[in-house]
Amino acid sequence: MKTVQMEDIVSLSKRRGFVFQSSEIYGGLAGFYDYGPLGIELVNNLKTLWWNAMVRDHDNIFGVDGSIIQNPLLWEASGHVAGFTDPMVEDTITHKRYRADHLAGVDTADLKELAAILKDKKSPEGNPISEPRYFNMMMQTWVGPVQDDAAKTYLRPETAGAIFTNFLNVKDTMRAKLPFGIAQIGKAFRNEISPRDFIFRVRELEQMEMQYFISKDMQESAYDQWRQFAWHFLIDKIGLKESSLSWHEHDANERAHYAAAAHDIYFKFPHGTKELWGTHNRTDYDLSNHARVSGKDLSYVDEQTGERFIPYVIESSVGVGRMLLAVMSDAFVKESVNGEERTVLKLKPAIAPYKLAVSPLLKNKPELVRMAREIYNDLKQDYGMVIWDDNGNIGKRYRRQDEIGTPFCITIDFESLDNRSVTIRFRDDLKQERYAVDKLKQLLNKELSR
Ligand code: GAP
Repeated sequence: MKTVQMEDIVSLSKRRGFVFQSSEIYGGLAGFYDYGPLGIELVNNLKTLWWNAMVRDHDNIFGVDGSIIQNPLLWEASGHVAGFTDPMVEDTITHKRYRADHLAGVDTADLKELAAILKDKKSPEGNPISEPRYFNMMMQTWVGPVQDDAAKTYLRPETAGAIFTNFLNVKDTMRAKLPFGIAQIGKAFRNEISPRDFIFRVRELEQMEMQYFISKDMQESAYDQWRQFAWHFLIDKIGLKESSLSWHEHDANERAHYAAAAHDIYFKFPHGTKELWGTHNRTDYDLSNHARVSGKDLSYVDEQTGERFIPYVIESSVGVGRMLLAVMSDAFVKESVNGEERTVLKLKPAIAPYKLAVSPLLKNKPELVRMAREIYNDLKQDYGMVIWDDNGNIGKRYRRQDEIGTPFCITIDFESLDNRSVTIRFRDDLKQERYAVDKLKQLLNKELSR
């Protein structure tokens, strides 16, 4: 079994409708991607699992869906206008720009350190490069008919902004008491200097974020709680292998401008072991700054002690696309079965785009097709994503379903007509078993909840 390469995932994604280049017929646009019919199912499954685990399973976490464009003062207060930067260098001949830290092969944004490492380095094209400098990644736009500075604003670079600005609204409408959290899933935009590695680093991304508002003395326990949440979600809910994950603690040079502590969960992506999910201690940085710039009182009064203070925030933040890339690469296997190579996505059934495939053994036998259709229609009512597949021989159908991660294939054959039983073929171990049709759902309910 060979290790998965990024080309394997890119090619499967395109071939089977997971991810397409955005505006492909016009040559695409660097850093932008579209999800295809199977990709969007996988994305929706990941988002639903996260939402259920984060919001529905916690009485003290509330959801919001904020707008992408907000009053630009928000981004001044958050420090993004001044500080949401990455270090970059420019090829002095082609004027192409590169992330200075990537070129230097280090995790730091310190310009002096980068300049020292890059002193004699050339660009990937072999040309001299400029001194490193900071580049702001905020994407700008204008609101209204006049494109002047007064109308200038930004596409949000992280979803967190609308959470901080809704702190009072949620606290008051939900009568929330500390500790409580506000969660959101939504798009964010970053003018990444060098988007790359397929959907790993893109310019339009979707984030799943939760800001947990606490008193200062809860910092350590809440930080630990949300680090553990992320780790267990990845393993228990979406089925990543524990051996693919590791912790990475940010040092001061690496941390975002708002964070006092940050731990990432790193995942073994095909292009290297990299950040998947961040947990940050944002202290009282955000609410203090929003209170200062907006002039609104964002303090909280403890009912028991009467103490008034600005809450601290522990943040949990993960990208949907990065999570999809992680589950696809973790589940991707090329293996030899009876001398033939098969590609299989061993996805946890809960996240697989299709849960079941139903096939009549032969598509030109009306009695088989009739019974298969009846079973297909019935299963579709209960399991939604069921695919009808009567194309080619049964071996080809299994291979097709393996490739898109369908965990179970149900085949209706001549024996089915005699005793109302079907064959179930299991994707991962290739086992085939016969089951009575009226026992099928019992088995599927058990298997699909794994
Ligand atoms: N609110 C905190 C925040 O945005 P971040 O570390 O910049 O923190 C959080 O981003 C997560 O969002 C990352 O761990 C990653 O999963 C995802 N992410 C960030 N930038 C991304 C990009 N350019 N493309 C894809 N995903 C990205």
